[in-house]
Amino acid sequence: MNTILITGVDKGIGRALMSTFLAEGYFVIGTFYADRPVSHERLKDFALDLGKPESIASCASAITNLGKPLDILVNNAGILADEEETNVVIEKLRKTLEVNLLGTIDFTQRLLPLMNVGSHIMNVSSTAGSLELVGKVSHFMGHYPAYKISKAALNMYTRTLALELKDRGVTVSSVHPGWVQTDIGGQEADLTPESAADAMYQLAISRPESGGFWFAGKRLPW
Ligand SMILES: NC(=O)c1ccc[n+]([C@@H]2O[C@H](COP(=O)([O-])OP(=O)(O)OC[C@H]3O[C@@H](n4cnc5c(N)ncnc54)[C@H](OP(=O)(O)O)[C@@H]3O)[C@@H](O)[C@H]2O)c1
Repeated sequence: MNTILITGVDKGIGRALMSTFLAEGYFVIGTFYADRPVSHERLKDFALDLGKPESIASCASAITNLGKPLDILVNNAGILADEEETNVVIEKLRKTLEVNLLGTIDFTQRLLPLMNVGSHIMNVSSTAGSLELVGKVSHFMGHYPAYKISKAALNMYTRTLALELKDRGVTVSSVHPGWVQTDIGGQEADLTPESAADAMYQLAISRPESGGFWFAGKRLPW
């Protein structure tokens, strides 16, 4: 049975991804922050706060102790802390980088020994983090600089990790889920979490060239 680890399965895109992979017969290891996900015989859940190094260390070690090699890791959990801001607010930037970037990298590096040959690490990024698209996508034109900075840096982690793992047969991708109806995307967004999860499932099980940035099967500009 294939095994996937998804962060942030208690709501939004992560919860939809969890349902999709359970329906496809995967064993799912899911992390939650505030609320525990509903139980399932093929789900093992762990509390994780990506803003706290001690939580990252203990969650990664508990997952390692399960002794299950991973076929897919989806770094989905993330925050949008400066939605209303058009200027950098340093405390919000610090918090955003702690969760979306440093915590995500720390967690991932600790789990690398579990990644199978042929496995896939997907970092859930955003077109908001694209250097080429910044200022050109209307619904987030001038807003949330901290979030944009965090996703741009996460994209660079995708590239550096792809290089780090190139001889191990592990694919690393950044993926934009689309504009999705969640607490981060808002209810006026154009995709349901389920349809975003379907496209992400297709990317996860495909073997795209490592180090790419994807949305719905197409490459995005960095
Ligand atoms: N929705 C969009 O339009 C959109 C577009 C582009 C990219 N994204 C990305 O998609 C990913 C999922 O977001 P979403 O839209 O599904 O938003 P969401 O519904 O707010 O889900 C975010 C998830 O991250 C978890 N989380 C928050 N803080 C955390 C922390 N400190 N430690 C560990 N987990 C934490 C949340 O847990 P709690 O429920 O307990 O807070 C939740 O499970 C994010 O990386 C986001 O940046 C979303």
